[in-house]
Amino acid sequence: VTIPEGSSVLDVYASANRDEDVFDEPFVFDICRHPNPHVAFGFGPHFYFCLGASLARLEIKVALEELARRAPGLHLCEPDAKPTYSVSSFVRGITSLAVAVS
Ligand code: HEM
Repeated sequence: VTIPEGSSVLDVYASANRDEDVFDEPFVFDICRHPNPHVAFGFGPHFYFCLGASLARLEIKVALEELARRAPGLHLCEPDAKPTYSVSSFVRGITSLAVAVS
């Protein structure tokens, strides 16, 4: 779209990552989604892309691998359990989700 000169712009990554024109079933958490052109780390060259993306991806990989190793039976306490989210217009984070380890 054309943005009028002098306008204020707020880029909302969470919204872009759920763009129906880009993703099939954008609200479904699909860890195998491919291709997955999300913009969680920004996009484009320096200044618009996260300098720590590789470290963040490695940290998340290690965290999930360790979680799977230490809690192999991790599951939702109730099949339809829903998480609660932090209140933020920029970063979406789960504050609680009832799970159990069997
Ligand atoms: C899941 C974790 C992370 C997410 C989702 C994330 C997301 C982002 C996003 C979207 C931007 C671009 C902001 C913009 O200009 O529009 C950014 C920039 C940046 N991030 Fe991250 N980040 C993460 C982790 C990290 C880590 C672990 C580090 C460092 C250890 C880091 C360091 C930076 C730096 C230095 C910039 C500014 C880059 C620049 O201006 O050239 N981030 N991040």
